Amino acid sequence: MVGTGSRSQMYQDAIEKTYAAHAHLVGLCDVNLGRVELARERSRSHSSPPPPAYASVDFERMIADTKPDFVIVTTVDATHDDYIIRAMDAGCDVISEKPMTTTAEKCQRVLDAKQRTGRSLRVTFNYRYSPPRTQVKDLLMSGEIGDILSVDFHWMLNTSHGADYFRRWHAHKQHSGGLMLHKSSHHFDLVNWWLGALPVTVQATGKRAFYTPAMARRFGLSGAHERCLTCPETALCGFYLDLAANPGLKSLYLDQELRDGYVRDRCVFRGDIDIEDTMNLLVAYDNGATLTYSLNTFNAWEGYTITFNGTLGRIEHTIVESTYVNGTDTVQGGIAADGVTTRVIPLRGAPRVLTPWTGTGGHGGGDTVMLDEIFLPAAPADPYLRAADERAGTAAILVGIAANRCFATGEQVNVSDFVSAFARPDYAPMPSRTDPLPMPDRAARAV
Ligand SMILES: NC(=O)c1ccc[n+]([C@@H]2O[C@H](COP(=O)([O-])OP(=O)(O)OC[C@H]3O[C@@H](n4cnc5c(N)ncnc54)[C@H](O)[C@@H]3O)[C@@H](O)[C@H]2O)c1
Repeated sequence: MVGTGSRSQMYQDAIEKTYAAHAHLVGLCDVNLGRVELARERSRSHSSPPPPAYASVDFERMIADTKPDFVIVTTVDATHDDYIIRAMDAGCDVISEKPMTTTAEKCQRVLDAKQRTGRSLRVTFNYRYSPPRTQVKDLLMSGEIGDILSVDFHWMLNTSHGADYFRRWHAHKQHSGGLMLHKSSHHFDLVNWWLGALPVTVQATGKRAFYTPAMARRFGLSGAHERCLTCPETALCGFYLDLAANPGLKSLYLDQELRDGYVRDRCVFRGDIDIEDTMNLLVAYDNGATLTYSLNTFNAWEGYTITFNGTLGRIEHTIVESTYVNGTDTVQGGIAADGVTTRVIPLRGAPRVLTPWTGTGGHGGGDTVMLDEIFLPAAPADPYLRAADERAGTAAILVGIAANRCFATGEQVNVSDFVSAFARPDYAPMPSRTDPLPMPDRAARAV
């Protein structure tokens, strides 16, 4: 495994605890050997022999020494392509965290490496596996609301989790690609997979209007500062993060920062941030559907609302998530009590409220289902085809890459401009868009 930060712990715990009979972690690599040593301590706490440690410059030596079947990539987003390609060239299959990568050029290099080496690449889009989101896929596949002509999708991040992206490497596009890649690639993948369709054109606007020095002053601070640890106005700031007070944050980041200069508590209002905090998109799909999408990072609650408008009715689906801060013991993407609402409303007649499918663990139960599929030798066949590879990884990031281009130019962008043709992802069969439809009942009333 390369990248031993917060996310790697999910894979490490899975391999060394839940799936210990099926998998073995043979090597650990990171640019920061302090974090590698913490991961080795974690192995000891699982009563597993700590895997050997490798600095990032010794990645090829790790592969030569330990001969892994798979390399798991959990590094900073902009470095995924480098490790995916080096692992494939060294003869390994790869499991990579999302986003697959952050730019069109890097995406093309990953596609070329896949072609050249024939190795497999799985992009871990865990949101697909969350039971209530799979339930929506099941509904769409059933044809109950007919052909989907448009989708309205609005994702809200609150001022705990949302603000956190402005403190760390995510705040710079050179590391994260901005939130259109880092965060929204999950959401674009969901829509691609839900619709079983590919994006064609993107129009978008994005701005940073909340996490700014001017907003710090409007909230009563003297301005933006460098970081929370040295901030002179901690008592006044509602965004203060005390790294030393949380054992997870302290050991993983504060105690390691002298080795690599990775500061985890930078001021969320500082001027050098170059990602957007407010983004709106209009995306056209190759099946004729259109998507309106927004991502807002300073909201009163965390989660999303999505509506699918079909020729026979509509699905309204909402999830309210619980509060999360990366590196702490809070559950990422956990669902609040009674946080899922899914309704199907026919063109005429009464709405049907669904009992949500449920699961346990991170990302609304998605992590657990996905890990079963990755690590169990005989995972059951999946009618929803949730496993994603480089084709779905590409389709998801191209929307974000196109949106970033729109933010800069104000022009509509063709998604196909960015990479040479890639094969269509495997999507579960969707209802025919040409079959006859039942005429709405004149006697029934619209709600
Ligand atoms: N699927 C999900 O829901 C989900 C959730 C959280 C994070 N993630 C993804 O997981 C990845 C890691 O995120 P995180 O929250 O653990 O971040 P993190 O900052 O906690 O960890 C990143 C790690 O990468 C290491 N690193 C940076 N540059 C490197 C390089 N060139 N070579 C080797 N190591 C390098 C850092 O030292 C650090 O240990 C990201 O790609 C993120 O998008 C996915």
